[in-house]
Amino acid sequence: MYNRGVIMSNPLRQKIQDRTARVGVVGLGYVGLPLAVEFADAGFHVTGIDVQASKVDRLNAGDSYIQDIPTEILRPLVEAGRLRATTDFSVVRDLDTIDICVPTPLRKTKDPDMSYIVSACEEIAKHFTPGKLVILESTTYPGTTDELVLPMLAKDGLKAGADFFLCFSPERVDPGNPTYQTKNIPKVVGGVTAACTEMGALFYGQALEHVVPVSSTSAAEMAKLLENTFRMINIGLVNELAMMCDRMGINVWEVIDAAATKPFGFMPFYPGPGLGGHCIPIDPFYLSWKTKQAGIEARFIELAGYINGQMPHFVVDKIQGALNDQSKPVKGSHVHVLGVAYKRNIDDVRESPALDVILLLQRLGARVTYSDPYVPSIRLDGGSLEASPVDACVEQADCVVIITDHSDFDYEAIHERVRLIVDTRNAYKNRKSEKIVRL
Ligand SMILES: NC(=O)c1ccc[n+]([C@@H]2O[C@H](COP(=O)([O-])OP(=O)(O)OC[C@H]3O[C@@H](n4cnc5c(N)ncnc54)[C@H](O)[C@@H]3O)[C@@H](O)[C@H]2O)c1
Repeated sequence: MYNRGVIMSNPLRQKIQDRTARVGVVGLGYVGLPLAVEFADAGFHVTGIDVQASKVDRLNAGDSYIQDIPTEILRPLVEAGRLRATTDFSVVRDLDTIDICVPTPLRKTKDPDMSYIVSACEEIAKHFTPGKLVILESTTYPGTTDELVLPMLAKDGLKAGADFFLCFSPERVDPGNPTYQTKNIPKVVGGVTAACTEMGALFYGQALEHVVPVSSTSAAEMAKLLENTFRMINIGLVNELAMMCDRMGINVWEVIDAAATKPFGFMPFYPGPGLGGHCIPIDPFYLSWKTKQAGIEARFIELAGYINGQMPHFVVDKIQGALNDQSKPVKGSHVHVLGVAYKRNIDDVRESPALDVILLLQRLGARVTYSDPYVPSIRLDGGSLEASPVDACVEQADCVVIITDHSDFDYEAIHERVRLIVDTRNAYKNRKSEKIVRL
């Protein structure tokens, strides 16, 4: 399947190997920009295409807008002419490879929204010529590459594996992870044909450390969904355990840490205020949508989705209970939220449970403020909220709730000054205090 020599005499093979292939990346967000930087850093000439002119302008000015890519890394690549960006899809004509890294959100009905992939592919198709390698990286349901993308490119009798190459390769980037980044996260790639897989694997092998070829696009699409479904379901399990432990007066964090001492057959997951980000709460529903069409109910996914969706309510109940214990109704109380990003040390608030918690508290009549060193303001249903300095709020607040345990917060100093803390992240793991109410 990999390196069988089926692409031996193809001119693209030589261009990839001697790094003269002109690389294109469509969608320059959290996934696309780091990928473009890796290939530029490996010596390729890379052109990014995005519909947002502001991103294109910033990239061309050598100014990074993605936290994981420091401007000091980006600017020299732009200045050396190895990385540039445009909103104009006609550059596709001159590209040899095209990675598609556009969003794949869910509609309100939890159906996949394929409109970004369709729109990007329509534009690519307008300027498509034989000999190119196209790789879809956006997370999606199994079958997307073969059923949706292939027919859009295989026009005028062009054959995948002979006249052009088409693969799916899931992106696994974990924003804010200091150890694993685009370059050293193994890259799974599966092609429409063996020749496609071989070309895709050859391509990634030039810039990334490990390539994992699989036999089909669907296997690559499904592998990504397995990874994220595995996380989502295990988080659902520990969230349910947290609710059980709460009822029984047991510290769930201690239970998980104790279980994690087993050197085999157990992997710790931790409860929290709910799922966030653009992957774990969304991707499993791609799978349940697709399997429903095949007559199979994805029952684990639906159940975990329900439990995880209850967590913001559970947290608000905890806040309400803690305030009641101090004879304070939640209505009229001041609740200060620490951290609104969906996870520690990043600036992304997409699907963040903090937004749900804040809205629920506001609906109950609480006055809510928040601090987050990474997020200066947030949009809520029908309004917005500006971040407040920690010092200005923690003393006055009737209750401080930790939703995102950023490392920048001085937890000891905060503890000294607050009246009541609801800790949904076990930030005060080693502290015994009457002021702290844990999840
Ligand atoms: N962010 C992550 O941590 C992560 C991790 C793994 C996989 N993914 C997946 O990768 C894909 C991209 O995610 P992201 O986080 O980079 O999204 P993003 O929103 O940060 O970036 C997507 C970019 O695509 C651009 N875009 C939208 N439509 C376009 C079009 N038709 N043509 C050109 N550009 C277009 C947007 O302007 C944006 O800059 C999604 O499928 C996501 O599920 C994301």
